[in-house]
Order: sequence, then structure tokens, then C-alpha cells
Amino acid sequence: MCGIVGYIGDKRCRQNVFQGLTRLEYRGYDSAGFVCIDSNHNHFAFHKEAGGVDPLARVINETKFDGTIGMGHTRWATHGVVDQANSHPHFNCKKSIAIVHNGIIEGYEHLREKLINEGHEFYSTTDTEVIAHLFGTILPQHDTIKNALIELVSQLHGAFSFVLILEDHPDQLILVRHRSPLVIGVGNNEMFVASDFLAFSDKTDNIVFMPDDSFAILRKDGIELYSFDGKPLEITTEIIEAKFIDIDKQQFEHYMLKEIYDQKRSITRTVSFYRVMGSCTDRAFSQISASFNNHKSTEYSDSIWRQLSLSKAQINSLTQINLVAAGSSWHAARIAQFFFETICKIPTRIHLSSEFRYMPFFADKNSIFIMVSQSGETADTLEALRLINSFEISTIALTNVPTSSMVREASGFLPMQAGPEISVASTKAFSTQVATLYWFANRLALERGDITPEQMHEAEEDLFIAAEVLEAAIEIHKLRITQELAKKYAQYDRFIFLGRHISYPFAMEAALKLKEISYIFAQCYPAGELKHGPIALIDDKTPIVIFSVLDDLIYRKIISNAHEVKARNGHLIVFAFEGQDDLIKLADCAFVIPKITPLLAPLAMTGLMQFFVYHITRELDRPIDKPRHLAKSVTVE
Ligand code: G6P
Repeated sequence: MCGIVGYIGDKRCRQNVFQGLTRLEYRGYDSAGFVCIDSNHNHFAFHKEAGGVDPLARVINETKFDGTIGMGHTRWATHGVVDQANSHPHFNCKKSIAIVHNGIIEGYEHLREKLINEGHEFYSTTDTEVIAHLFGTILPQHDTIKNALIELVSQLHGAFSFVLILEDHPDQLILVRHRSPLVIGVGNNEMFVASDFLAFSDKTDNIVFMPDDSFAILRKDGIELYSFDGKPLEITTEIIEAKFIDIDKQQFEHYMLKEIYDQKRSITRTVSFYRVMGSCTDRAFSQISASFNNHKSTEYSDSIWRQLSLSKAQINSLTQINLVAAGSSWHAARIAQFFFETICKIPTRIHLSSEFRYMPFFADKNSIFIMVSQSGETADTLEALRLINSFEISTIALTNVPTSSMVREASGFLPMQAGPEISVASTKAFSTQVATLYWFANRLALERGDITPEQMHEAEEDLFIAAEVLEAAIEIHKLRITQELAKKYAQYDRFIFLGRHISYPFAMEAALKLKEISYIFAQCYPAGELKHGPIALIDDKTPIVIFSVLDDLIYRKIISNAHEVKARNGHLIVFAFEGQDDLIKLADCAFVIPKITPLLAPLAMTGLMQFFVYHITRELDRPIDKPRHLAKSVTVE
């Protein structure tokens, strides 16, 4: 994964590169590095540090080196531990080639061994350094850089994008892209390059998305673009006006807490946005603004289907819905399975992106695939999308990032209006995905004649109510959590989470949330499975958290599971709804929240669950917004 930023032009590069790196830290923050050809002596000057961009900036601020060509890197470690040596940039033996890289070079061990046998000395244990040494041997054998690059890429496998600077060619920045994104920003006598154009979005709106399997030789005033076999490619410049918005934490201690409180607005905005979609004619949804909540019409326009490139015939002949996702998005998709199967009565399959590509694929033209991804860049999900696209089956990207790769590559786009999510652990993106999928399931049912426009309108109202309850539930329990419960539960080393039916995937999300930010071990089971083994784990050191449901039959079963815990002196924490007294009285600690339409029960509990986990973690003094080893956008498989 990792973030790459580069600059070549009339100006000094350092500030540009650092600004870009700060914006790309969501791609990893294990270490960071910067290199340029120092204008004072025309040689490489560089520094790299373990830790994020801040530690690097602190050290570099004590130096003055700068130049008109340079690049930086923020790392999420794949090969090699997190330390200074493994930080990027890397160099060849002669230190005449510098590289920063995003991705994985598969089979790099053999190349490395071969190069070591030829006398090369390695300074890191990364796969990246292999490229620098390899190019160092290839370059002298060719008359042009272009020909050397053709040979270099023919020897590399995996998914990678990288930028090279050659000390002997300070007027050229070399870019290579294979399956990992790389974007060029065209300025006035200057060029920018990055893994994500947001790195330089305030510098230029003229963007060239490098095509897959291409390399480019960039000068300050021109681009040469080639396919991997050396054929010149046409350069398509797109005007993209999106700006990087420096989100303020406001009065909140962490972005995560701010984003927990953003949820009511994110859900309301998204539902309102879909309500007024009739007035929207293309993908540029950004113009739709205010007055969302005033729309009271029960007339639903067809623009959603144009947006999704789905014909009426396709909608009516749908026999299967598929959702593909990873992490929290996968949990949102698993919750949504209940929406599609209950409301649309269409069999729905949920696929884990990382497994999907390697399972047999049965192409069915009467099915659709919804790729659920906050970032729209997750490599596992993106590769799954590419596979499905190759069978010419309809694909829809449900993401929070309209400029993402998934949006560009899917046949349709379901946008969310959650606003940028900064904290690595997903909160508002998760709940907005759930809300969007609930809306979409109803809209599909309306189109197929399974529900009336009035029922559709009710579904939207239910989403607004769920958003209210989500926030109200936090307020109801806020004092207890912050003053008493967070401290108490921060002392436990492990938790078990249980859910049943629609609360099971929600319990999985709760367990993930606790693990990723607090580092407390948490395991999740379907409550009915407790008796088949996990029950042996019950002791007074392992709180069991049960999430209730509003379906009466399932609720009764959950009570039985709670009894099984209490019969073994287990410590029981319950998230229940008003009136569920039989369950509440079994609990050692109960969170009771207002009732809501049953399918939206998980959405109603989301804020409270996240708030509870957040405060446990805060007691442990963890880096909540940037937990160890994680990254917001995972662009490696
Ligand atoms: C990473 C993040 C998770 C996220 C997952 C999927 O692992 O840390 O919070 O749920 O990626 O990301 P996506 O952007 O596809 O939703």
C-alpha cells in the first residue's frame, strides 16, 4: 500500500512533497521518507524515519536541503519490519537511482538472491530495494531509459506503482504503474505525481490517471506515456475540481469521536440526497446541497437507474444480488443481506473480497454485484470488481469517494454523503453504508412492484428515525460510560461478542472495532453457536457482550443464550431495546435504547457501541485515530 508523492518543476519540491505526504498518511504511517536532488551539489539528499510524516518533518526541518525534483513516501509495511532501514526511498549500490514504491513485488526473493550473487549489497529487507538494484544493472545495457524500463517491467510481477529519480537525469521523473494507482497533476512548468490526486489537488485540476500497465517519463513541461511493451499511449487529461478539505477535529479529542457524532448528519444527508435524486442528471452529485430534508414527495424518479446503468428489464429479471467487501464494509454488507432478502425477496450472497477472486465464479447475467468500500480503493475489492467486469455483469460501486478507482471502473455508482472519514477505524462510513443499502433495497423493491411509494417513503422516514436514535442512544448512556464503565471494562484482556440473525454481523463489527483500536482481544460468535464450543471460554475474566434484535422469535432465542452465560457465572453486557426486560434483568450491565423498525436495529445501536469502545480505548491511552499496524486504505492484496 503506502503513499507516493513526487514533484518536478521550476519551484522547490520539499514543501509540495510534505504537504502531499501529510494528506496520504491514510495509506500508512509506519514510516516516511523524502529524497531530492539537492540544488546545492546536484546529488541525492534524503532522510527517512520510522513513524509517520510528523517525526520525519521534525528531523528534516533542522536541515535545509531542497531541489526542483524530489519525492516522498509514507509506508505501510509489507516486507521488512518497521524501521529506518526499511523506510523508503531505497537506492541501488551506486546511489544513482532512488525509488519509492507502493505495492508488492511477488517473487522478489529470487531476484534479490540473484542480485546478491552478482555482488549487490542490500541495506533493507524490502521487496522495493530489489527494483533499484535491478534497474541499476539494466540501465547501462540500454541506449534509452525507455528501453531499460521495458526490460525492467518485464521482470517484475505483483501489483506495484513506483517512482524513480536518476541522479544523472535530474530533468526526468520516471513513473511505473501496474495495478496500484498513480496519478499525474499537470501544472505550469511543473508536474506532480501521487498515489491519490488529493495530495496535490490545490495545485492543479488537470489530472492524468495513468492507465494500468504503463510507464511515464515526466519532465517539468511534458509527459511521455508508454505501454509496458513501449508503445506510445495517448495522454488524456481530465479536469477534476475536488479539493482536499482539511477537516477540523472541532472540539473533539479525536477524529473518531467527531465521526461518531457525525453519523446522524451523514445518514440524514445521504437519505435526503437519494430522495431528491430526481433533479440530478449525472455523476456530479456535488451540486445537490441544502433543502434535502424538505423534500416530501413520494414520486421517485428513474435517475437512480440511469446512474446505475440498470435497465428496467434487468431490474425485473434479477435473480441474485451479490455484495463484495472487506473489513467493516463487509459487516455492513452482511447486515444488508437481511435487507435485500427480506424487502426485495431476492437471494443475496455476501463475498469477502480477499477470498472472492480465488473461488469458482459462476457468471450469471441476471445478477448484480455491489462493491461496498469506504475508500473505493481497497485492492482486494478492486481486483474482485475487475474480475466481475471481465464477465460483463453489472457492477455498482458503493463508496464514499467519488473519484476512486472503483467508481471509475464499475458500471454504476451509489454515492454516500458521509463526508471524509479521517480516523482509521470506520464509524460513519459503516453506518452510512448500512443506511444506503437499506434505502437501495427499498428502492429496488419499489421498482419491482414489491412495495408501494408510501412504503418507500416510510422506509426513508425510518432511516431518519434510526439516525436520531443512533445519537440519542449515546446521549442516554454517555455519563455512565465516561464516568464509570469505560474505566471498569478497560481492565479486561478479552471479550466475547454475540449476536443472532441481523445482530450477528453487527456483533462482528463491534468485535473488530474493539480489536483494532484498543488491541484488546475480542472474538465474535453467532449466539446460537456458543453452546457448540465457545461456552468453554466463559469465566469471570471474559465479559460477554450480547446485541439484541427486535424480531420476537429471535429475541426469545437470545434470552436463552443469555441464560446459558449466566448459568456459568459469566459477566454479561447487554445492548437491548426498551421493553426487553427479560433480557435486561439478566445483565450485569445493560444499555437500553429506544425501539425502532426491526431491520434497522443494528443502525440504532451503532453509535453507542462505537462510543463504548472508544472510551474503553481512551482509558488505555492508545493512538485512537491511527492504531498500530493499520491503514485506512489497503491497496495491497
Ligand atoms: C482497512 C480499514 C478498515 C476497512 C477496510 C475496508 O482494513 O482499516 O477500517 O473497513 O480496510 O476498506 P474499504 O475502504 O474498502 O471500506
